[in-house]
Amino acid sequence: MSTATSRTAEQTDTAKLSIGDTVLELPVITGTENESALDISKLRAKTGVITLDEGFVNTGSTTSAITFLNGEEGILRYRGYPIETIAQNCDFIEMSYLLLYGELPTASELRTFREGIRQHTMIHEEMKSFYNGFPRDAHPMAILSSVVGALSTFYQDSLDPNDPEQVTISIYRLLAKLPTIAAYSYKKSIGQPFMYPRNDLDYTSNFLHLMFATPAGPYEIDPDFAEALNLLLIVHADHEQNCSTSTVRMVGSSDANLFACISAGISALWGPLHGGANEACVNMLQQIADDGGDVDKYVNMAKDKTNGFRLMGFGHRVYKNYDPRALIIKKACDKLLAKLQLDDPLFEVAQKLEEVALRDPYFVERKLYPNVDFYSGVIYRALGIPVQMFTVLFAIGRLPGWLAHWVEMHNSPSKRIGRPRQIYVGPTEREWTPIESRS
Ligand code: CMC
Repeated sequence: MSTATSRTAEQTDTAKLSIGDTVLELPVITGTENESALDISKLRAKTGVITLDEGFVNTGSTTSAITFLNGEEGILRYRGYPIETIAQNCDFIEMSYLLLYGELPTASELRTFREGIRQHTMIHEEMKSFYNGFPRDAHPMAILSSVVGALSTFYQDSLDPNDPEQVTISIYRLLAKLPTIAAYSYKKSIGQPFMYPRNDLDYTSNFLHLMFATPAGPYEIDPDFAEALNLLLIVHADHEQNCSTSTVRMVGSSDANLFACISAGISALWGPLHGGANEACVNMLQQIADDGGDVDKYVNMAKDKTNGFRLMGFGHRVYKNYDPRALIIKKACDKLLAKLQLDDPLFEVAQKLEEVALRDPYFVERKLYPNVDFYSGVIYRALGIPVQMFTVLFAIGRLPGWLAHWVEMHNSPSKRIGRPRQIYVGPTEREWTPIESRS
C-alpha cells in the first residue's frame, strides 16, 4: 500500500514576544499552502504564561497533510485533489483509500482495499440483541455511538492502537459495519427485520438495500439514488480539525482504542452546531413552509439578538465564502429533483431563504453563506431517508476522515496526550464553614 507523502512545516521567520522583562523569540512556521503559525510550544516553560483562545479560533492543534481548506476563497482539497475533481471521478471507497493512505490507489490496491472491507459488512449476531434494549423512538445517532463503542467488546483482539495489523482490521471493520449498524437503527425504529448486507453491491447501493429492502419482496436499487448518496458521502468525508475530528484525535491521544474514539466522534457530530445541523435545517425549512413560507420573517428572527434563533445550515467557522460543498450539493439537488420530477416545497423555501439572506447586510457583513448542511437534507428527503437519519449519513461520510486523522496522529513522532491548560477564575483558598454555620 502507498503511504502518505507529508512534509513538515518549515520555520520561515521569528516573532518577538515581550512579557515584562522577558523577550521570547517564537518560531514562525509555514505549511505547504503558505499558512503561518507561531510555534508556542516553549511559551509556558520560558515565560510561565499560556495562551487563551476559547473555541480554538486562533489555535492550530496539529500539522496535518490530509485536507486543505481555504475559507476565504472557498477551496477544499483532500490530499491535494480539489473536492470538485474527487466528486466527479471517485467512489466513496476509492476516496477513503486516498484519505487514509495519502495517494490514489493502483487498480490492485483498490481491489484489495474493497475486498478487505467487504469481508466485514455483517455484524456479530449477538450484537443484534443490543437493539432490543433501545427504546423504539431512540435517536439513531445515540444508537450509532453506543453500538460502535460496543464493537470494542466484540473485537478485543484488535484494540491495540500501536499494532498496525490490528489497526488495519479495525479500520476495515468500521468502514464495513457502520452502514449496517446505521441501517439497523432505522429498521428497529419502524419495526422491520434487519437485512443482511449484500457484498455483491457497491457501498452506497448496499446501504440503500440495508435501509429499504425487506425479506417480503424484491427491492430495486435506483442507480441515481446510489450515485447521489455516493456524492454526499464524499463531500462530507473530511474537513480538517472540525469538532468531531478534533474529538477523535483528543480521545485517541490517550491511546484509547479506535472504536472508542470513533464512538466519541459520533457523539460530537450529533450536536446541532455541527453535523446535527442537517436535521435541524430541514426541520427549520419545514417550519417555515408550514408557516406560509415567509422567509423574511425568519431572516429577521435570525438577525434579532434577543431571539436565540439561527438560520441552520448557514455560517461556518472557517468558510467566509460559499462553502464549496454546498455548491456541489445544490447542483446535485437540482439534478436529482429534476430527474425524479419532484417539486419539493422545502427546496423552494431553501432557495428563497438563501436569496434573501445573501442580499441582507447582516449576513453579508458577517460573511454568512449556506454551508454543507443547507441543501443536503433536501437530497436525503428525495432519497426517502428519514430526517432522524440525516446526521447518521453525515457520520458514515465522515468516518474515513476520522480514521485518517487518527492514523496520522498515531504515526506522528510528536504525538502527545491532548491536555489543554486553563486560567482558573474560581475562589482563592478559603476557610471551611461547618454545616451548622452556613446560611
Ligand atoms: N444565523 C444567524 N446569525 C449567525 C449564524 C446563523 N446561522 N451563524 C453565525 N451568526 C452570527 C453570530 O450571531 C455572530 O454575530 P455577532 O458577530 O453579531 O455576534 C456572527 O455571525 C459570528 O458567529 P459565531 O457564532 O461567532 O461563529 P462561529 O464560528 O463560532 O460559529 C457556526 C460557526 C457554524 C457554529 C455558526 O455559524 C452556526 O451556529 N451556524 C448554524 C449551525 C450550522 O449550520 N452548523 C453547521 C456548520 S457546517 C457543518 C459542520 O461543521 O458540521
